[in-house]
Amino acid sequence: MISKVMEEALNKQLNRELFSSYLYLSMATFFDSNSFVGMAQWMKLQAEEEHIHSMKFFDFIQKIGGRVILEQIDKPQLDWDSAQQAFEDALAHEEYITKHINELTDLAIAERDHSTKTFLQWYVDEQVEEEATANEIVQKFKLIGDSKSGLYMLDRELGARILTPDTAVK
Ligand code: FEO
Repeated sequence: MISKVMEEALNKQLNRELFSSYLYLSMATFFDSNSFVGMAQWMKLQAEEEHIHSMKFFDFIQKIGGRVILEQIDKPQLDWDSAQQAFEDALAHEEYITKHINELTDLAIAERDHSTKTFLQWYVDEQVEEEATANEIVQKFKLIGDSKSGLYMLDRELGARILTPDTAVK
């Protein structure tokens, strides 16, 4: 049986993952409206991935006898100064999510809640990937600088992204 404090903390993270999906969808519309179709596609897939992350919390909370409480999802930012700025914000957002996953894990340890701690380990590992991927893209933007052809190539590269089975199945 899950404690009330753990249940509330997991529900808050479920809301953060839904907000992540919303934020990345908003970035997708920003890219679409600026003709970066590849980046828009990349962000749409990222939004889908975040929805999967949220549903893993949804299923886990129910499975361990908790109650899912769906709260309001904040309105995401609509525009960014540049494509690079949007990806820099995505990286900052992933760092914020990592901080919360670490805090949740600390709470599970303090509560001696081994099943939740084991569940959270997937997210601890996933956040390493999430930050590394976002950081890699930010570094590419920095290399490209003001080169229009470089931006075009990066847009094409990001548009080739597919949702991996590992992400989609779990
Ligand atoms: Fe669900 Fe991108 O972390």
